[in-house]
Amino acid sequence: MKLNIAVLAGDGIGPEIIEQALKVTKAVCVKFGHELQYKHAITGACAIDKVGDPYPAATHQLCMDSDAVLFGAIGDPKFDNDPTAKVRPEQGLLRMRKQLGLYANLRPVETFESLLHKSPLRQDLVKGANFMCIRELTGGIYFGEKGRSEDGNMAYDNCVYHRDEIERILKLGFEYAMKRRKKLTVVDKANVLESSRLWRQIAQEMAPQYPEVETEYMFVDNAAMRIIQWPKSFDVMVTENMFGDILTDEASVITGSLGLLPSASIGLHTSVFEPIHGSYPQAAGKNIANPIATVLSAAMMFEYAFNLTDEGALIRKAVTASLEAGVVTEDIAGDGKSYKTSEVGDWLTDYVANN
Ligand code: IPM
Ligand code: MG
Repeated sequence: MKLNIAVLAGDGIGPEIIEQALKVTKAVCVKFGHELQYKHAITGACAIDKVGDPYPAATHQLCMDSDAVLFGAIGDPKFDNDPTAKVRPEQGLLRMRKQLGLYANLRPVETFESLLHKSPLRQDLVKGANFMCIRELTGGIYFGEKGRSEDGNMAYDNCVYHRDEIERILKLGFEYAMKRRKKLTVVDKANVLESSRLWRQIAQEMAPQYPEVETEYMFVDNAAMRIIQWPKSFDVMVTENMFGDILTDEASVITGSLGLLPSASIGLHTSVFEPIHGSYPQAAGKNIANPIATVLSAAMMFEYAFNLTDEGALIRKAVTASLEAGVVTEDIAGDGKSYKTSEVGDWLTDYVANN
């Protein structure tokens, strides 16, 4: 098969982790006889520095012309600490999501047997936890009207959702639940927010079409608590944009490290595969960042964008083997022996080539 991908490394640790995912991707393509074609494009703070735009038209065009996008991370502290900056790296990511119509962000939360002891939670609570968080990605407070009063002393961000936006993401939630353990948790704040009440109303309208799915409704504050109290109670969780952003960072740490969780953003145009973590600027250029979330995002790319499940499975096997062999970066190694980002990437690449 011919794989035509766009590579957007972005900022901070982005280039280092993307390099490892690309090495592994190339090895998989060699192994399975696929022809890999890829092109790099700029996004984020580095694109602002170069061309004054965090998601330049040429980058968007490349994404549109590709079969899949492998994305690193964006963000830079020089913007975080300047609330008055007019152009921000994150706008690049948000525009990419919007322009590619990526309305669903799939974030699987899985635990690894060999890392259970790294979880801040008790092992018996995390062992076997495995759920899919489906985060709505192109609506809500992220994209609603925002602004300031003339004197600058009042600010607002509107949370807006239309019926069709809610229906399509809930449909995906029900369909995923059907493919999994048939339980769907709709997370909202329907006791306070009107937009949440519309979500809940539509979910209740749709639920009878999926009689085999057990649908539960949960307020987001309660869900935040349940994720650490009883993560195994979740199968598929579906929620709006910002709730999903927050809950998945929380969920990631129960697996032992934020550096482990991949994601797939799917929708109308080319799908994007990216780790759920950010650009971790403190680690940039030090060759210490954990590449696994990005490598697992490449696995999701094979599976979701190309329907190549054996290829994805081999990457997953390599990752599990590396964790069992203790070939891990310092976020996981703690006081034990740690490996550099590139060493973990090399190990995974060799594993793929030889297994
Ligand atoms: C994520 C990130 C982004 C988000 C930021 C970088 C804009 O936190 O992908 O989860 O909030 O969506
Ligand atoms: Mg986030």
